Amino acid sequence: MVPDNVVETATLAEAGAAASRGSRRSASAYAEALLAGERHRPQGAPGAVPRPVRSVGVIGAGLMASQLALLFARQLGVPVLITDLSQEKVDGALTGIAGHLEKLVARGQLTPTAARELGSLVRGTVDKREFRNCDVVIEAVFEELSVKRAVFAEIEPLLREDALLLTNTSSLSVAAIGRGLTHPERLVGLHFFNPVAVLPLVEIISTENNDDVSVASACSLARLLGKTAVLVTDTPGFVVNRILSRLFCELLRIIDDGAEVQLADHALDPLGLPMTPLTLLGFIGPAVQLHICETMHAAYPDRFYVSTSLAAIAAARLRGYLDKSGTVLPAAAAAALLPQADAGPPAPGAESIRARILDALADEVGLMLAENVVAGPADVDLCMLLGANFPVHQGGLTPMLDLSGASRRVWGKEFHPGPGFAE
Ligand SMILES: NC(=O)c1ccc[n+]([C@@H]2O[C@H](COP(=O)([O-])OP(=O)(O)OC[C@H]3O[C@@H](n4cnc5c(N)ncnc54)[C@H](O)[C@@H]3O)[C@@H](O)[C@H]2O)c1
Repeated sequence: MVPDNVVETATLAEAGAAASRGSRRSASAYAEALLAGERHRPQGAPGAVPRPVRSVGVIGAGLMASQLALLFARQLGVPVLITDLSQEKVDGALTGIAGHLEKLVARGQLTPTAARELGSLVRGTVDKREFRNCDVVIEAVFEELSVKRAVFAEIEPLLREDALLLTNTSSLSVAAIGRGLTHPERLVGLHFFNPVAVLPLVEIISTENNDDVSVASACSLARLLGKTAVLVTDTPGFVVNRILSRLFCELLRIIDDGAEVQLADHALDPLGLPMTPLTLLGFIGPAVQLHICETMHAAYPDRFYVSTSLAAIAAARLRGYLDKSGTVLPAAAAAALLPQADAGPPAPGAESIRARILDALADEVGLMLAENVVAGPADVDLCMLLGANFPVHQGGLTPMLDLSGASRRVWGKEFHPGPGFAE
């Protein structure tokens, strides 16, 4: 008998091929087939028996850690302990979580009793020794290798030998974070997306050091948390941040070279992305995105550009290039010396900017697939649909790259080969 997942994969391949040369309807059908298959174990997940999770420790009480603490308590119904560098930070996170629960009650999404029970599951401490009985410990501290290493060096001797260690790093090497651990085989990357309660994706980053039980436990945990997991190898930026960063780097290089900012920012409008790139950059924050671009540049200097305008905007502590209405902030234009609409030599038009960015994305996806970062193009699309809200009607990303001709321009073939296309 043919196993279910083989039938599904074959159907998906056909849907992908149809999407790549057909209508928006076939692109939607492909994306829907992809999302329907998400209930399965991620492609490549080991079959080992996962360890049970009876209590969770969260290190860091910032933006991500607070959301993670609530997600763990809500989905697993187990005690969650949260810590940070000071009692003040821990208290701040607990107050934030209590406020969030109140909002859920006010909106009718939680009963007062359930909110009280959930609130009582999350406890704070500044004494990391209290983590000794946790089955799972996840860190969401600053995105600095030395800080993350120091956190694990401090916590590992306090934990049981079979506790699962997780890092929420968004671009650092998980193996590098685990260097120095007595048991590096139990450290897995579990990259959640902000806002944690809303974005359904989790990238699970396995390293060559991992044992099967740790990866299987991370996959099982992702499922228990109600997330869709994609297994990713330990490569810079993983999938979503690598692709988004390549997009940002290409766009910002075009802007730094003299293109008019708003014209460049709106060049991708016909693709139907959830927002313009510079609007998204405003949400991510210039300093955070600059840091990711620098990490990516260090790994792949030829392809990832560290933008001078982004660096200037981050240094000036501005919220981004645009104000809330989407026009260029005068302070950003001044800080980054952005070109005015009517100044300088003729800048490229929207169509050529769009083609350049699509070609850059096709280049990046092809390289990722050649490096076996994920199992195939469908995983890239799943990541971009669920982690970055790329459009279902475009099939995520790879059908869009095929349909626009970018895949063929860059690689001489489509990502979804089918009848009529040479492999
Ligand atoms: N912000 C996002 O959108 C986002 C999305 C996905 C992943 N991430 C990743 O999550 C991690 C945290 O990001 P964030 O935005 O929540 O940062 P944040 O600055 O809001 O929080 C980090 C917290 O870690 C604490 N901390 C630092 N050193 C510590 C230590 N030794 N022990 C205990 N606590 C310590 C800090 O005091 C701070 O409260 C980073 O690795 C980041 O790349 C962030």
